[in-house]
Amino acid sequence: MNKSGKTAKIEFNDTSLELPLLSPAIGPDAADIRRLYADGGIFTYDPGFTSTASCKSTITYIDGLKGELLYRGYPIEQLAEKSHYLEVCYLLLYGELPTAGELEDFEARITRHTMVHEQMNYFFRGFRRDAHPMAIMVGVVGAMSAFYPDSTDVNDPRQREIASIRMIAKMPTIAAMAYKYSLGQPFVYPRNDLDYAANFLRMCFSIPAEDYEVNPILSRAMDRIFTLHADHEQNASTSTVRLSGSSGANPFACIAAGIACLWGPAHGGANQAALEMLKEIGSVDRIPEYIARAKDKSDPFRLMGFGHRVYKNFDPRAKVMKQSADEVLDLLGIENNETLKVAKELERIALEDEYFQEKKLFPNVDFYSGIILEAMGFPTSMFTPIFAVSRTVGWIAQWKEMIGDPEQKIGRPRQLYVGAPKRDYVNVEDR
Ligand code: SDX
Repeated sequence: MNKSGKTAKIEFNDTSLELPLLSPAIGPDAADIRRLYADGGIFTYDPGFTSTASCKSTITYIDGLKGELLYRGYPIEQLAEKSHYLEVCYLLLYGELPTAGELEDFEARITRHTMVHEQMNYFFRGFRRDAHPMAIMVGVVGAMSAFYPDSTDVNDPRQREIASIRMIAKMPTIAAMAYKYSLGQPFVYPRNDLDYAANFLRMCFSIPAEDYEVNPILSRAMDRIFTLHADHEQNASTSTVRLSGSSGANPFACIAAGIACLWGPAHGGANQAALEMLKEIGSVDRIPEYIARAKDKSDPFRLMGFGHRVYKNFDPRAKVMKQSADEVLDLLGIENNETLKVAKELERIALEDEYFQEKKLFPNVDFYSGIILEAMGFPTSMFTPIFAVSRTVGWIAQWKEMIGDPEQKIGRPRQLYVGAPKRDYVNVEDR
């Protein structure tokens, strides 16, 4: 990135400052405010970071107005159609599409790390069977540094690489184990003759009592869902991973922090909340009641799976997901799916409503994904764990980029203090 030579002039009190304007490869310029406090004695204030760039990145770019999402410059629509998840993982991690040989080697490395340490099985036993799988994943992934201490030194590039491979390879196994545990069924080991998505489906749905054949339609749909969720700039969970990593925390702890943040219903937890909302609406005739509630400021209800901080026209992932929902349900012979009918009618009504137009609200990635996942046989509690499996490569790629960035240092925001002035202690008898 080169400084543009342009500056942003800021005048306040009796101070006038010229801040360098940084020009990115694509997107808006950024005022470099790193010297603002030192030279001007003031902070900027930006709760939610709506106007703040926290880092420089070469991984993903979102154009919110055009509804464009690029992974290392490649449009998400093309990757969803022509690529597959492990190739996308390679692209996000190393910056270029792999040659056939590079891809074969990468897939072999991932495949060879899909099993987890046998002692981890005992870790699961401490949870209640009705524990939410995200609670299990936060705990188990956070504990991975105890099982893989040979890949926790963030200053050793070799250890960073093996930790990255282990995380990407083992997340589906851990998520499937969390699901099996909730069912009271035995864990299913991964198989090296299956691809990433097929392996995950088999670990989730096969039982020892009978053979299990992976449905190629579901496997392709699963792989596409993984691709669509793989990375997304500096969203809340990725920013959590970066902030955790900025202190030098080991990669497993950073990913566990990202999983915890993703769980929130305003973020990755929205896919579970969106399907539960569609089920609660239940039928097309009840949609107006929920549209009214979403618009009522006194009602905390929001349309889950709607709206986005960055996209202001449409979420390109939602378009691909909606098309995939139609295809998968059709190929599975599932007709008249009431939930899909409610979802499509809700989208149609909302997009014609001036409140949603004015607020620029429309379906995001979480609105249709649950319909496909439910058709695959997953309970809603597994929706966000699946998002976490997919996003692990994005978290890892961003974490590695942060560690390699010479301008990055420990993240330590300041604040606008609006609390009590300095005052002396008062003994309890005098209060
Ligand atoms: C993800 O950041 C990412 O990239 C995330 C993600 C990724 O891949 O990592 O894309 C994944 O998290 C997608 C978003 C999933 N969340 C939901 O679907 C939950 C419902 N959506 C909202 O909570 C909300 O839209 C957010 C959190 C997604 C965005 O919130 P913002 O950008 O902070 O916007 P806001 O809350 O300030 O809302 C702007 C206005 C508000 O009205 P006013 O206060 O201006 O009057 O729009 C309203 C909100 O009340 N609004 C909604 C709404 N979302 C926003 N009103 C009804 N229903 C909604 N869903």
